[in-house]
Amino acid sequence: MSKTLITAALPYANGPVHIGHMAGVYLPSDIYARFLRNKGQEVLFVSGTDEHGVPITIKAGKENKTPQEVVNENYETIAKSFWGLGISFDVFSRTTNETHFKTAQDFFTDLYQQDLFIEQETEQYYDEENKKFLADRYIIGTCPKCENSDAYGDQCENCGTTLSPLELKNPKSALSGNKPIKKKTTNWYLPLDKIQSEFLEEWINKQTHWKNQVLGQCKSWLKDELRPRAMTRDLNWGIPVPVKNAAGKVLYVWFEAPIGYISATKEKRPHDWESWWKGKDTNLVHFIGKDNIVFHCIIFPAMLHAHSEDYVLPQNVPANEFLNLEGNKISTSKNWAVWLHEYLEEFPEKQDELRYVLASIMPENKDSEFTWADYQARVNGELVAIFGNFVNRTMVLTHKYYDGVIPALPAKKLEQEITAAKEEICRLHKKMCDSLSAYKFRDALAAFMDSARVGNKFLADIEPWKLIKTDEEATQAAMAFAMDITQYLALACEPFLPFTHQKLSTQLNFIPLEHMITRFWNGECLFGNLNGGHKVGPSTLLYTKVEDVDIEKQKEKLAGIKTGFKMKEEIQFEDFGKMQIVVASITAANKVEKADKLLQITLDVAGTSRTVLSGIAMHHKPEDIIGKQVCYLANLAPRKMRGITSEGMILMAEDAEGNLVFVSPEKTINSGAEIA
Ligand code: MF3
Ligand code: ZN
Repeated sequence: MSKTLITAALPYANGPVHIGHMAGVYLPSDIYARFLRNKGQEVLFVSGTDEHGVPITIKAGKENKTPQEVVNENYETIAKSFWGLGISFDVFSRTTNETHFKTAQDFFTDLYQQDLFIEQETEQYYDEENKKFLADRYIIGTCPKCENSDAYGDQCENCGTTLSPLELKNPKSALSGNKPIKKKTTNWYLPLDKIQSEFLEEWINKQTHWKNQVLGQCKSWLKDELRPRAMTRDLNWGIPVPVKNAAGKVLYVWFEAPIGYISATKEKRPHDWESWWKGKDTNLVHFIGKDNIVFHCIIFPAMLHAHSEDYVLPQNVPANEFLNLEGNKISTSKNWAVWLHEYLEEFPEKQDELRYVLASIMPENKDSEFTWADYQARVNGELVAIFGNFVNRTMVLTHKYYDGVIPALPAKKLEQEITAAKEEICRLHKKMCDSLSAYKFRDALAAFMDSARVGNKFLADIEPWKLIKTDEEATQAAMAFAMDITQYLALACEPFLPFTHQKLSTQLNFIPLEHMITRFWNGECLFGNLNGGHKVGPSTLLYTKVEDVDIEKQKEKLAGIKTGFKMKEEIQFEDFGKMQIVVASITAANKVEKADKLLQITLDVAGTSRTVLSGIAMHHKPEDIIGKQVCYLANLAPRKMRGITSEGMILMAEDAEGNLVFVSPEKTINSGAEIA
């Protein structure tokens, strides 16, 4: 039997994961993996964290940490978030792992020894002060298209143009602020042009079963004709290039990260990793977001094809579009996101609620939108009011009328109603299974919820709570069948709502046999698994309502992100008391040589003189601030910058737009006055 190797894009470890990642990649891949496992297929579900590349070094620089510290922290948070939401990875690793280094280097060496790479010398920007080549993101300058003066070497975020660093006007190094020089460097290029004509063109054209938007992107790349792409970079954070004379160079992150799927498998399954990656009967499926299409549909297959051993190529790449949040693009750097680890803390025991909502709005064919109001409406209106309500009524009535023992289904009672409901559920069952096979997760979930609707309607039409007064046998029939639907739903919810599946199976005392699960998910619409006489366990509500206050809190939190306001962790009075904040008067101010942003300021504090450096030169002229009274943090440990020791800090107020103003006493007061 064929086996399916499912990969979920390695999340980039420059931050935690958010609902956009979940809806785009991890939830669909998890639903798919669970579906295939339930069908009885052999499945390996692989992911891990992507821990190299420039953005991580930038983040580390900003936070005064090492890149390794940054990725260690994010790895922990990411892994915990996935675990907390029930993502059922079989293999989860990281690209800073030893096996990965070796696997990626061996991969490079294999291509190198085939003489595949083009070795090419180019001129790159170089920062002389820091003695480093500058990655595109480390060069800031003026956009040639829109004149935005903060454009990056790879892209202008103002007008969206893709740039190369050499196109920027007035380039500056983000490391030193200096003008970079051009310096020659050698790198190794994968001849994608050659691989296009020898392999990719034909191979992509065969993938007619791929999603339209995926194929569309691939074809447009091919139409523009691929060019050789550098597979090595001048950078010190990454995997060293395994050839002579390559000191200071690492493998391009998009070369080594996808190899992470292979190395993670190798690390965790040393005994059979090859049967997954080189076996003829493996179906490889990559789950990714749309920004990853070229890497998974063109570059990685090109690499796999070029390798001297026979690796499997992806059978499908069901890429998703993007999820927006309350009207704006989700952004890690702007903190515009709902972070999964925060959700798990703030909505304990509501994992399936998030899974449900995100699967309902999954951006399968176009971008979609998450809002908190919609989250609340879907949870309360669907999970609570339909599925939860149906199951709860069925359980409660069974306990009330029959002490929790399912009655036998009497013949010839409510036959028509029961048959009609069964037929409807079986039609939906087929739709659910077919949709899952076709990666249409929204449709599959809708079919599931519709089957719960059928149950709900059945009870509402029959009204067993009235029927019990007049027709005992008919009531038994109604309740036996309602229980039948409940066991159906318990089986059917598993891929989407695994926590509910556990909870409901326990309540029902229902341990489905493996062959039953297999038949069910291969399309058989199974009823009658819980016979008359079976005793169910005590019942509790599957879901509780999401309250308005909880939604308000989330909206406020987002509003705070927009204005830049965010509550910090609570502190004690002693924490505050440690700070000595006093009034000080500015007696002198000068620009600091070669530092655009800094002013050297002399303060009078109760008759003593203090020197501080303050990053306000862009906002205030020295001559304008002399004589001003300001708030001054006096007992901050001194710091040396540009050869000058800064003693303490002048307090400034800064808003989200970057306006920067002094905080001054309301009236003149003796300098040295304590602020508390
Ligand atoms: N880290 C990338 C991203 O977040 C995805 C890498 S997928 C891999 O977009 F295949 F390269 F691993
Ligand atoms: Zn621009």
